Amino acid sequence: MRVFKSVYGCAGVLSLALAAGVAVWGQDAPDTGPKARLALKATESHIGNLTGHAADGKTDYRRYCAGCHGDYGDANGENAVWLDPKPRDFTIATFKCRSTLTGTLPTDEDLYNSIGRGFTNSNMPIWNTLSPQQRANLVAYIKIFSPRWDKEKAGEPIKIPAETAVTLDSIAHGKALFTKLECWKCHGSHGEGDGPSASTLTDSKDNPIRPYNFAAGKDDSRFKCGNSNQDIYKIFMTGVDGTPMPSFADVIQPNDAWDLVHFLRTLQINRHGKENEVLSAAHGVIPPYVDKNPAPAAPENKAPGSGQ
Ligand code: HEC
Ligand code: HEC
Repeated sequence: MRVFKSVYGCAGVLSLALAAGVAVWGQDAPDTGPKARLALKATESHIGNLTGHAADGKTDYRRYCAGCHGDYGDANGENAVWLDPKPRDFTIATFKCRSTLTGTLPTDEDLYNSIGRGFTNSNMPIWNTLSPQQRANLVAYIKIFSPRWDKEKAGEPIKIPAETAVTLDSIAHGKALFTKLECWKCHGSHGEGDGPSASTLTDSKDNPIRPYNFAAGKDDSRFKCGNSNQDIYKIFMTGVDGTPMPSFADVIQPNDAWDLVHFLRTLQINRHGKENEVLSAAHGVIPPYVDKNPAPAAPENKAPGSGQ
C-alpha cells in the first residue's frame, strides 16, 4: 500500500485523519446490523491519576477509530481493506506493544501510550490531539470488545534493571547474542530486515510481515513500540505478539539484554548516539567476544553414575 502510506506519511497524518474523521466518520454508525448490538460494559481504565470510562469513549471511538478498527472492534472498518499492516483486531486482544510478558494482556498504560505514540510504518495515526482524558476513555472502550478483559488481569510489567555502561565489550557481547539467538535469521546479519527467513514471514492473521530494518532512516524514530533504550529492551523481552517476533525473556539474562540493546543501536548506522560513538572510536570494528566467566566445566569425579 505504498500510495496510502505516502498519503498518510508523517506530518500530514493527523490533519488528514482528522479531516476524514469529520467528513466520513462524523456520524455515529447505527447500533443495528447483522451482529447483535454491542453491550456497552462499564469498563474502566486507570493510567496514573486518570480514570477512563468506556461510556465516555464511545463517541470518539466511532468518530476517530471505527473507520479502521470497525464498529465492533474487529478490524473491519471501511478503510481496513486498503491498509497494510491491518488495523488491530480488538476482539482477540492481542497487542504488539506491551510491558508485560508474551501472551498476557497489556497494561492500561501500554495501550494509552500506543494511542498517543501512533505506529510508524503503518496508518495508525498519532492521537496526541486528543486530551489525556479522551485517550484514557478510549482505552476503556477498547476493552469492551474482547471477553478476555473480563476473565484475565493485565500481565505484570517486566522489571528492567538500570542500564549498564555502553562499552565496546558490551557491544561485542550483544553481537555474540544476536548471532547465537539467531536474530539475524529474520533481521539479517546487518539488521537490514533481509535475513534468510524474512521473505517467508506472516503474522497471526496470515498477512505477510517484514522484520524490522534497523539500518533504514536517519534516526531512531521508527520503532513501533517506542524509541528509548528501555523500549528496545522491552521489545525482545516481551515479544511483538501476533507477529513472528518472539519473546526472549526465557533465554536472555537481564544484564545481558542491555548488551544486546547496545549492539542493536550500532545497526542503526545513521543514528547519532553513544553506541555509535564508542564504535567509531574503535574504528568501526567490533572485536570477537571472549567470555570472561565461562561456565565451570563439570568436575571429572562428579560424572553421572559415579555414586557422588
Ligand atoms: C487510518 C486507520 C486507523 C485509525 C483511524 C486508527 N487506527 Fe489504530 N491502528 C491502525 C493500524 C493499521 C494498526 C496496526 C499497526 C501495526 O500493527 O503496526 C493500529 C493499531 C492500534 C492499536 C494496537 C496497539 C498494539 O500494541 O498492538 C491500538 C490500541 C489502536 N490502534 C487504537 C486506536 C484508537 C484508539 C484509534 C482512534 C482514536 C485508532 N486506533 C485509530 C490503524 C488505525
Ligand atoms: C522469526 C523471525 C524473527 C526473529 C528470530 C527475531 N525477530 Fe525481531 N522482528 C521480527 C518481525 C517480523 C518484526 C516486525 C514486527 C512488526 O512490525 O509488527 C520484528 C521487530 C523487531 C524490533 C522492532 C520492534 C518495534 O518496536 O518496532 C526489534 C527491536 C527486534 N525485532 C529485535 C529482535 C532481536 C534482538 C532478536 C533476537 C534476540 C529478534 N528480533 C529476533 C521477526 C523476528
